[in-house]
Amino acid sequence: MAAILIFMLILSIPIFLASGASEDLSFTFNGFRSGDLSLDGVAEITSNGVLKLTNDVDQQIGHAFYPNSVSFKNQSTNSSVFSFSATFVFAIKSEYHDLAGHGIAFVVSPSRGLPGARPSESLGLFNESNNGNETNHIFAIELDTIQNLDLKDINRNHVGININGLVSERAAPAGYWVDGEFKNLTLISGELMQVWVEYDGIDKRIDVTMAPIEIIHKPKTPLLSFRRDLSSVINEIMFVGFSSSTGSITTAHYVLGWSFKINGEVPRLALSQLPELPPRSEKKQRSKFLTVGLPLICSSIVLTAVLGAVFLIHRRRKFAEVLEDWELEYGPQRFKYKDLYIATKGFREKEFLGFGGFGRVYKGVLPNSKIEVAVKKISHESRQGMKEFVAEIVSVGRLRHRNLVALLGYCRRREKLFLVYEYMPNGSLDTYLHDWPEVTINWEQRFEIIKGVASGLFYLHEQCEQVVIHRDVKASNVLLDAEFNGRLGDFGLAKMHDRGADPRTTHVVGTLGYLAPEHIRTGRATSRTDVYAFGAFLLEVGCGRRPIHQQDEADDFILMDWVFSCWSNGDILRTADPKLGGNFDPSQLELVLKLGLLCSHSSPAVRPTMRQVLQYLEADAPLPELATLRWRLSGNVFLNLRRRNGGSIGDGDGDGLDDFSMSYPVSTERNVTSSSSVAESVLSEGR
Ligand SMILES: *[C@@H]1O[C@H](CO)[C@@H](O)[C@H](O)[C@H]1NC(C)=O
Ligand SMILES: *[C@@H]1O[C@H](CO)[C@@H](O)[C@H](O)[C@H]1NC(C)=O
Ligand SMILES: *[C@@H]1O[C@H](CO)[C@@H](O)[C@H](O)[C@H]1NC(C)=O
Ligand SMILES: *[C@@H]1O[C@H](CO)[C@@H](O)[C@H](O)[C@H]1NC(C)=O
Ligand SMILES: *[C@@H]1O[C@H](CO)[C@@H](O)[C@H](O)[C@H]1NC(C)=O
Repeated sequence: MAAILIFMLILSIPIFLASGASEDLSFTFNGFRSGDLSLDGVAEITSNGVLKLTNDVDQQIGHAFYPNSVSFKNQSTNSSVFSFSATFVFAIKSEYHDLAGHGIAFVVSPSRGLPGARPSESLGLFNESNNGNETNHIFAIELDTIQNLDLKDINRNHVGININGLVSERAAPAGYWVDGEFKNLTLISGELMQVWVEYDGIDKRIDVTMAPIEIIHKPKTPLLSFRRDLSSVINEIMFVGFSSSTGSITTAHYVLGWSFKINGEVPRLALSQLPELPPRSEKKQRSKFLTVGLPLICSSIVLTAVLGAVFLIHRRRKFAEVLEDWELEYGPQRFKYKDLYIATKGFREKEFLGFGGFGRVYKGVLPNSKIEVAVKKISHESRQGMKEFVAEIVSVGRLRHRNLVALLGYCRRREKLFLVYEYMPNGSLDTYLHDWPEVTINWEQRFEIIKGVASGLFYLHEQCEQVVIHRDVKASNVLLDAEFNGRLGDFGLAKMHDRGADPRTTHVVGTLGYLAPEHIRTGRATSRTDVYAFGAFLLEVGCGRRPIHQQDEADDFILMDWVFSCWSNGDILRTADPKLGGNFDPSQLELVLKLGLLCSHSSPAVRPTMRQVLQYLEADAPLPELATLRWRLSGNVFLNLRRRNGGSIGDGDGDGLDDFSMSYPVSTERNVTSSSSVAESVLSEGR
């Protein structure tokens, strides 16, 4: 009886202390009662006083916060954070003995709940959009039981100090020091363990210590000790509590006791008074088995059978795909939708790699072979016969060259077409060139990539059985393999025609800035239109700029014209990519830029073939003198096109194209060797 009274007294202390404004806050819970904590998600307080943060349902969040706010700073003096300390006893029990997910975090947060936070690896603390953002003002100690390499987790049994994000500032494998010796602890063992979190407001140091419950005194050496001033992280008014989440494995996360203090040593927990951990699978209801259990089981069996049938039908439909007779001959090149679905984990956002021409690209790992692939999802337009389209894709897929990204096959389902490509670990070239990339690539690599792409394109144009026109050569379609070799990808737009035959007229496809003027005019894609795009690509790589981008409200910057004007002023190297920092072979860069101009010549007949391009690049033949060529300025074509549409033109959007041809102004032919300012003439004609 006396014990109960003392127990009640201890539990009521926080209320008194919290209401005394001048006193430093302190509270102790040796077990919890309902109402002690503010709970959300699946968190609950069990009948015997254990805080159970997560239950037996996967992908859940549980939050438990001390209901009152905590003042972490002295309003009247300065903005540094007070010292504080916390200790708690926890246990993690999983349905499996060696797997669990995802852990518990002790958290100091500006709000009592953490709205918008996600379960699983986000630990109920953050979501994809606010992870790592310093406006979060979240300080957390994570007890993490899953290794997530994206979050730089050191293992799947660690303690970490997290500030505003899921990537720990400091982390260590769970364990403790005793007499200079380190002892491991296993977070998911289901054993009770105690954690101490201390912040020294003067020293600006965070110490985290843990120990099994049997070690009554806090070990002298902390597990983690990290110097960091939390003044910018912790606001004056904050909330303290716990957050936990489960992923695909159901795990119960428990907290049995907790005490906290601002400025001073944390009150000891009365370990002997802590409630008992509930057994994992409770069988105490055996007596009720016949009255409640059996009917329940029977009805669940029926329900399961019905649900199972529904699921199977749903699954059938989900993975249904179209397979027609004519497709049988493509056999191995056709993938099962189910395999692609599994490979890309259901085309989930995390696997999303980017946008390719026509569709979204996802990373995947094929279920059987474990080969890494990139899967492009294309919405099929009914205009073009699917049969021809697939036939073309499959024949393009037979092409193999070390500078082409191999198309491994396709899959067709409803209105969707999926193209399966080799996965290129280093991504696309444009990410190293544009928008202030963190890493760029040096000139030697760029020159090798240029030569690689040239030889890939030469193969398509001249070495295959049929002439293959790529139709969308640009830096974002050049992918880099593990050795940074340039590989031309994205054959979604490629067209083939017999050697000597006239290429068919089709819809204009490609990307603005890489489209040859005659292609826009006639709609005919030829190897010369690929050469034009290759020229734009050369300038893009040499200058590190896109062929066209908006300079200000009224004007577009046209790379080709700028390079051209610098060249006619005798200073072509002025256009070199500043990211190269002047580290390049001037003669090579000059060759690339001049070749870029030559390939982008408005008259198709003047453009070199890819065979010649290769010879120039390999220095097997000298580049023709540019000054003797007549130039037709085509900048204003781009200007008008951009105004009307902007972005990529594709088969899927054929309607806009008639507008193009109508609005397309006639370019003037002039001999530029006598022209004073290219920019001036472009601008005056653009109006
Ligand atoms: C805040 O600072 C003032 C002035 O130094 C002091 O009188 C007061 O006790 C401090 N309050 C707390 C809660 O520490
Ligand atoms: C801010 O206050 C803390 C004590 O709360 C003190 O140790 C520290 O020196 C003060 N800093 C400044 C810049 O006044
Ligand atoms: C992420 O969390 C923030 C703040 O907690 C919330 O405002 C935002 O809506 C959330 N975003 C998503 C995508 O859930
Ligand atoms: C951080 O969050 C703020 C407010 O939600 C937002 O304005 C800002 O863009 C975010 N910063 C980053 C780097 O995401
Ligand atoms: C502790 O764990 C680490 C890695 O998990 C292991 O290498 C080491 O042998 C363990 N030590 C003991 C004493 O069990």
